[in-house]
Amino acid sequence: MEILNTNKAEIKKAAQIIKAGGLVAFPTETVYGLGADGLNPIAAAKIFEAKNRPSFNPLILHISKIEQLKEIGECRNPAIEKLVAKFFPGPLTLVIPKKEIVPDIITAGNETVAVRMPDHPVALELIELAGTPIAAPSANVFGQLSPTDAQHVINQLGDKIDAVIDGGKCKVGVESTILEITEKEIFLLRHGGLSVEEIEETVGRIKIKEHDVSKPNSPGQLLQHYSPNIPLRILTDEILLEHKNKKIGALFFKKNNYDYNFESVMFLSPDGDYREAAANFFSMLHQFEKENIDMIVVEPVEEIGLGRAIMDRLRKAEYKYK
Ligand code: TXA
Ligand code: MG
Repeated sequence: MEILNTNKAEIKKAAQIIKAGGLVAFPTETVYGLGADGLNPIAAAKIFEAKNRPSFNPLILHISKIEQLKEIGECRNPAIEKLVAKFFPGPLTLVIPKKEIVPDIITAGNETVAVRMPDHPVALELIELAGTPIAAPSANVFGQLSPTDAQHVINQLGDKIDAVIDGGKCKVGVESTILEITEKEIFLLRHGGLSVEEIEETVGRIKIKEHDVSKPNSPGQLLQHYSPNIPLRILTDEILLEHKNKKIGALFFKKNNYDYNFESVMFLSPDGDYREAAANFFSMLHQFEKENIDMIVVEPVEEIGLGRAIMDRLRKAEYKYK
């Protein structure tokens, strides 16, 4: 891993790593982010691998210009304009309906995308030079504290990322406040660096979602879980027997070892690459939703590395159909 300083030439180097699909930790005003090209699904898969996250949580896309917001999300609620005018750049993340160009792994299959413009010159320059929105969760290993200086990042992720830009200490020190904006309403999803009072001065009363997404394992997180609109089951011999007269779409890891007349078949990664499998997982389920089938079956993968996160999301997608 390279430790870069904040000279323009070094930030340029970091931007090239991002463009090439690598991982760069960078400073923001809140905490350090673990950045990757937000429009490249394989690069996003690397983020989950490095953090050793047992699940795919949706990621925030970081932008450097207001115009980028409209490229990745729908801005139908006029409150968005007010919030952006007042608080961008700053410790505020907006969850809005996503546009087609945002990869499914970024939103964990959801139809909404989280967007924020960090108030940090290094972060803004990095995004600008990379020429793409940068996907970044906090740059900590799963279950550990969010890093507020470069040394924290090096201690936790030093051997798992390509570079870190050392921009000193983060001035806010806690994560951004997250608001979900629907056409008519505004919900607080996470308390953070911008206070509810400041937000309410600008857009009036907002609703607090019962469960804060920052609290791990809170039932509120269930709301974000993507489940296809066609019944989905984890593939077993029994399931096939039970549904033998149905039109079934099958999602396999590498190859199809079943002697069964599936209506349609897709492969997460013919080469058995977990990054590729993770990058394809949500988008292939979305493709099946458009087909004329009665159900989807998905072959379980081995629970190593990214396989754990895939299985976690698979179980959650299956849950309501069991
Ligand atoms: O200050 C911050 O927000 C930092 C810096 C790096 O920008 N980032 C950060 O990211 O805290 P992360 O991934 O650690 O937390 C983002 C939170 C997660 O709890 C995730 O579930 C939620 O945002 N989130 C992201 N996209 C979402 C979506 N489409 N709908 C609901 N929640 C979303
Ligand atoms: Mg975090």
